[in-house]
Amino acid sequence: MSTTHRIAVIAGDGIGPEVTREGLRVLRAAAEHFGFGIEVTEYPFGTEHWLETGEIFPDPAFEEVQQHDACFLGAIGDPRAPVGLIERGIIGHLRWDLDLYVNLRPIKLYDARFCPLKDKGPEDVDMVIVRENTEDAYVQQPVFENQGTPEEKAMQPMVYTRKGTERIIRFAFDLARTRPRRQLTLIDKANAVRAQDLYTRVFEEVAQEYPEVKTDHAYIDAACMWMVKNPEWFDTAVTTNLFGDIITDLGAMIQGGMGIAASANLHPGRFGMFEPIHGSFPKAAGKNTANPLASIAAFGMMLDWLGEKEAAAAVEASIADLLQGGRIRSLKAGAHATDEIGDMVLERLAAVNA
Ligand code: IPM
Ligand code: MG
Repeated sequence: MSTTHRIAVIAGDGIGPEVTREGLRVLRAAAEHFGFGIEVTEYPFGTEHWLETGEIFPDPAFEEVQQHDACFLGAIGDPRAPVGLIERGIIGHLRWDLDLYVNLRPIKLYDARFCPLKDKGPEDVDMVIVRENTEDAYVQQPVFENQGTPEEKAMQPMVYTRKGTERIIRFAFDLARTRPRRQLTLIDKANAVRAQDLYTRVFEEVAQEYPEVKTDHAYIDAACMWMVKNPEWFDTAVTTNLFGDIITDLGAMIQGGMGIAASANLHPGRFGMFEPIHGSFPKAAGKNTANPLASIAAFGMMLDWLGEKEAAAAVEASIADLLQGGRIRSLKAGAHATDEIGDMVLERLAAVNA
């Protein structure tokens, strides 16, 4: 009997629904080609739903989402809601309360045409950023003392635990070991934020167990510089939540833009939530101009996580094949219609499996 994977889908705000729709078409086509089932439960959460009902992500639905084999999230963010309310209530809730401590963000350039860096090609841009996903300032409550007065003080501390630090570093070493270059770079700011000395020490300790992995270190400011100047120096990199957020937007640009960057939020062995790293792009919502490749690639990562290795490889090969051909003029929104790119991927998928 063939397996059926149960997927929870929160398409969310802005361009979320349209890019999710294309991702789901590719997922269903892959299921058909490779002979497994897909059962999708769609949830209406996002800013529109909050405006209509006052609900962000009710507990029973949160419980139900966890009963699925994986979750997909389109995009969250809308200027009609207070800054961060819906993001923290949906993305944060899933990442933190499901303890999805790994945020895996591959940065892979498929064709030199899409890279803004001079003289850099696919052989130079192929790395994975392992972003810690459950600690740092992100999960602390902001505190404002004497708000609105000249004596105001605002705080949201960067808190790191040994357990949180060790599990993400260990995950990164395990991943680095499976990649051809077997190289892992620690990215931090331990020279200024001395609390990150915990990262320095744990990285050194865990490295002893992985003599086959070559280690390296860069401060976050320098890492931003090197990623533009010499992206080929990076293979696997591990970093804190906040720095991982920042450097992966930079990474997205060198792989061709937000239209192509995908990510996985994982608690290995337990649950996975997959999302494009782009935001909701409210101005483009409903126009059928957003690039769905990031979502399609995120569904590809989901297939890999679900153990559908062949299907995952086929989705990845279809994206690569499409981008290496000449049909995609640009990865920017508006260069092609959202569903046109979906059609092209489906066509490639049928061809790579023929
Ligand atoms: C991301 C996003 C989120 C983050 C926002 C929407 C809270 O930028 O996934 O990179 O900062 O993690
Ligand atoms: Mg971000």
